[in-house]
Amino acid sequence: MTTTPFGVETAARATAAAARATDLSKVYGEGETQVIALNSVSVEFRQAEFTAIMGPSGSGKSTLMHCMAGLDVISSGSARIGEVELTTLKDKKLTQLRRDKIGFIFQAFNLLPTLNALENITLPMDIAGRKADQAWLDQVVATVGLAGRLKHRPNQLSGGQQQRVAVARALAGQPEIIFADEPTGNLDSRSGAEVLGFLRNSVRELGQTIVMVTHDPVAASYSDRVVFLADGQIVDELRNPTADSVLDRMKRFDAKGRTS
Ligand SMILES: Nc1ncnc2c1ncn2[C@@H]1O[C@H](COP(=O)(O)OP(=O)(O)OP(=O)(O)O)[C@@H](O)[C@H]1O
Ligand SMILES: [Mg+2]
Repeated sequence: MTTTPFGVETAARATAAAARATDLSKVYGEGETQVIALNSVSVEFRQAEFTAIMGPSGSGKSTLMHCMAGLDVISSGSARIGEVELTTLKDKKLTQLRRDKIGFIFQAFNLLPTLNALENITLPMDIAGRKADQAWLDQVVATVGLAGRLKHRPNQLSGGQQQRVAVARALAGQPEIIFADEPTGNLDSRSGAEVLGFLRNSVRELGQTIVMVTHDPVAASYSDRVVFLADGQIVDELRNPTADSVLDRMKRFDAKGRTS
């Protein structure tokens, strides 16, 4: 507990962080081929908040998500999920934490072709030997509008439906935080809007925490907050974004010679 004049508030805020990076750096390779993908990034993702991460190609967005989700090892600094410092965890504990506390939505869905939609959704819990909370599962399935498609295999589903299965899978285990790397990148605008609307509802109605990478100002406008990355550093932040305000901000980066 902090005992500053702002003690209570500070403590409340501290506990409300679902994930936090402090002076996080990630360096790939060495010598002449060295790439500083993240350069001392400090950022906090609060519970029940929907954050979009934007920035030019190569600015470090995916690297940040992977480092904070424990999918990649950081070079220096700190990455925490809740109060757990990822750098202190051995492989087994890290795998457990990823499985139990983190949902990751990959751009390519990563559904297993031989399993039907429902089996794909419950797969992480099946692997963990955990029983899905049936009421919760019903709610997730109903919210993503997949009730009539649970017996279908991925190749019997449209792209948007497959993406919704991937979203439902991330939500089903009620992880503390969901990281989504361009979840609507290869969807048509209608399917994209469905997925985005669903993600936003899960934040508003279910208190889910979501961090989403996107290149699309309209997609970003579904979020509560946009964090802008450039050259491995956080360069700006926007609250309550609209597509126009995001576009405006992106233009200013472009004017400085940074293009995506
Ligand atoms: N495994 C790796 N080995 C070496 N360099 C890498 C590796 N992964 C990423 N990088 C480099 O790190 C930088 C950041 O990459 P990252 O994938 O995080 O970018 P991004 O912002 O997600 O870009 P995009 O919008 O194109 O997906 C890039 O310069 C990239 O070339
Ligand atoms: Mg990327």
